[in-house]
Amino acid sequence: MFTISADVSQNGSVRSTDAEIEEYDFSRLLDKPRSLNMERQRSFDELSIGMSPHPAFRNIDSNSFRFMDHSDAVFSPGRRSGFNTPRSQNGFETHPMVADAWETLRRALVHFRGQPVGTIAALDNSDEKLNYDQVFVRDFVPSALAFLMNGEPEIVKNFILKTLRLQSWEKKIDRFQLGEGVMPASFKVLHDPIRNTETLMADFGESAIGRVAPVDSGFWWIILLRAYTKSTGDTSLAERPECQKGMRLILSLCLSEGFDTFPTLLCADGCSMIDRRMGVYGYPIEIQALFFMALRCALLLLKQDAEGKEFVERVVKRLHALSYHMRSYFWIDLKQLNDIYRYKTEEYSHTAVNKFNVIPDSLPEWIFDFMPKHGGYFIGNVGPSNMDFRWFCLGNCIAILSSLATPEQSTAIMDLIESRWEELIGEMPLKVCYPALESHEWRIITGCDPKNTRWSYHNGGSWPVLLWLLTAACIKTGRPQIARRAIELAETRLLKDSWPEYYDGKLGRYVGKQARKFQTWSIAGYLVAKMMLEDPSHLGMVALEEDKQMKPVMKRSSSWTV
Ligand code: GLC
Repeated sequence: MFTISADVSQNGSVRSTDAEIEEYDFSRLLDKPRSLNMERQRSFDELSIGMSPHPAFRNIDSNSFRFMDHSDAVFSPGRRSGFNTPRSQNGFETHPMVADAWETLRRALVHFRGQPVGTIAALDNSDEKLNYDQVFVRDFVPSALAFLMNGEPEIVKNFILKTLRLQSWEKKIDRFQLGEGVMPASFKVLHDPIRNTETLMADFGESAIGRVAPVDSGFWWIILLRAYTKSTGDTSLAERPECQKGMRLILSLCLSEGFDTFPTLLCADGCSMIDRRMGVYGYPIEIQALFFMALRCALLLLKQDAEGKEFVERVVKRLHALSYHMRSYFWIDLKQLNDIYRYKTEEYSHTAVNKFNVIPDSLPEWIFDFMPKHGGYFIGNVGPSNMDFRWFCLGNCIAILSSLATPEQSTAIMDLIESRWEELIGEMPLKVCYPALESHEWRIITGCDPKNTRWSYHNGGSWPVLLWLLTAACIKTGRPQIARRAIELAETRLLKDSWPEYYDGKLGRYVGKQARKFQTWSIAGYLVAKMMLEDPSHLGMVALEEDKQMKPVMKRSSSWTV
C-alpha cells in the first residue's frame, strides 16, 4: 500500500492528507515534476476560483466547498498515452483493444465548419439511425475525458462553446417556452450541399421520446467545464463572460424558489441517461448526484463579481441542505433497512421518525437478500410515502466522485459492489440499475415499454460506458483492483461484439436486443477507464475532495460519520 500525501489547503499552501490508494506504484508519480504540477495547480486554483473566501461566507461553514479542489495536488495535466504507443511510458502493457478504440473514437468525430465539435452517439449503419447520428451532451462526456487525458483539449473547448451557443436559442415545445438555461440533449450538423453551408440543429426535448428536457445536460456541461479547466490549467475559458453567464442560467433553473419542501430537484421521468419512462421521476438519485457535483464545480468556477456573488451564496446554501438531505434520507444499509422495516406510520409533527410516511409493507422482497452485512448505497428515490430501493450505478458513482457520499459511505458503496458482484457486474460491467422491473410492475411503471423489458436496456441492462465511472470511483476509494477485474471482463467481449451500447440478461451475457454497435460512449468509457487505471492522477478531472465540514449531524447507522 502506498500513501500519497499532498494537498492544497484553502489558502493554497501545501499540507498533507492521508489519501491512501492501494496497489499503485505511486513512485512513478513522484518521478514526475510533482512540485511543478503543484505549483501549476495551485496557481490555477488561486487564479480562477476565488482567491479568498468572500466575507459573506466566512460564517457559513460550508464555505470550504469553494476550496475543496485539492485532490489534485499530485495530479498532472493530460498527456498522450495509448494511441500510437504500443507500450505506454509507465510500463503498462497496452491492450490491443486500445488502438482499435482510439481509431473508432476518431471516426466518430463530428466537424462543424472545419472544427471538431463532438462525437456522434453511434457509428452503426446497419440499424435505423433514429437520433444516434447526433452528438449527445451526456454521451460526449467520456469522449471529452479521453481527449483531455490524451492531451487534446481543443475539441472539448469547441464542444463547450458550441453547446453554449445552442443554450441561447429560443426553445419551444408547441406553444410553451422552455427556460433560458436549458442545454440541449443533442445536436447535429446539417450540410447543405447546394449552398455548401453547415448549420447546427439541436434537440432540447422537443423531438425526444416523451418530449422531456434533459435535466442532466446542463450539469454535465458544468462538470465538463471544470474538467477542462482542471486538466489544461486554462482558466480563460471558464472566465469568459459567456461561460459565466451560461453557468448562471443553468443555476437559475435549478435554484429557483417554488413549492419545494426538499432541497432535492424535482423532475420528470426520462430526463437523464435513462430517457424513457422507468419510474425515475420525482427525486431520482442520478439527478440529485449530478446536481450536487455540478453545484460544487460551479462554486469552483464562478467569479465573485457583481452577478456571480449572489449565485455563490445560493449554491453554498443549497449544497449544505442537499448533502444533509441525501446523506440522511437516501442512504441505506443493513441497520437503516431494519429501522425502516420497523417503522411506525401516520406520525405527525416534528418528532416523526418516519418522516415521509413510508409503509414498511412497501419494502420489496428482494432488498432483504440483496443488502449485504457490510455495505450500503444511495437508494433510487425518496418522496412522500415513497422509497425506490433500486440501486442505480451512475448516481452512486457520482456520489462518490463528488464527495456527496462521506468516505464511510463511499467505502460502503464499494463493499456492496464487491459483495454483489454477480448481480451488479455479472459477465459484463455494469448494471445501469438493479433489479429489473418485471410483470405487473413493468406494465405499470414503464407503461409496457417493449424496449425496457426485464433485464434489458434501461431496465437492468448492462452498459459498458459505466466502466469509467466505476473505475473513477474505485480509484477514489483506493480499490483499483475492483476496476481492473471489471475491465478484464469487458475486454473479453467488447471488441469482438463491436462495442455494443448495452447487454441484456441477469448476468449481462447477451448483446442487447436493440443495442447499437460502435456506440461511442462504450468505446470512450473503456478508454477513460484504461487511462485512469494507468495513470490515476487523471482522477482529479472528475473527482472532488470531501468537505470535512459537511458531516451529517445525526447518527443513523454504523456506516455513518458523525
Ligand atoms: C439512448 C440512451 C441515452 C443516450 C442516447 C444516445 O437514448 O438512453 O442515455 O444518451 O441513447 O446514446
